[in-house]
Amino acid sequence: MQYPPACPLRLGHVLLFTPDVMASVAFMTEALGMGLADHAQDVIAFCCARKDSDHHVVAFAKSAGVGFHHASFQVSDPDEVGRGGRALADKAARGDWGCGRHTIGSNFFHYIQDPWGSWFEYYADLDFIDDYALWKSTNYDLADSLASWGPKLPDDFVHNYEAEPVAASA
Ligand SMILES: [Fe+2]
Repeated sequence: MQYPPACPLRLGHVLLFTPDVMASVAFMTEALGMGLADHAQDVIAFCCARKDSDHHVVAFAKSAGVGFHHASFQVSDPDEVGRGGRALADKAARGDWGCGRHTIGSNFFHYIQDPWGSWFEYYADLDFIDDYALWKSTNYDLADSLASWGPKLPDDFVHNYEAEPVAASA
């Protein structure tokens, strides 16, 4: 079945690879004035603005080197995440992951992999932080850090193709 493509509303966040997640968070919070929304140990962390912010606008994942992991576009609702993601997945030359629901940030997601190994995400219903002064950051277990439900994670979902151009499983 052919589905109509999604109509993204805006760029919501990016996730970058870094060899030192908490140092990257310190740069965001101390130099740029952002807040640490949540993290999972020193492996993944999510930063927000301090007023009227999506749960995360910049996030970091641990890797051997710096790199781009994904950019995420907001769509209208979970139905458009699933429908738009499915429409893209049917055309994609590489992998996809979704639809599902993230644990941290609570958003519905569907990721599509570009031809070079990076990812792009449709999301809806991400948590919103009105006032960071009232927010309590949580340090999640790694086992809870990815999704509360969804399909099996692609083998190379957290592979940094900029640091290691060929995936171990490729
Ligand atoms: Fe995302």
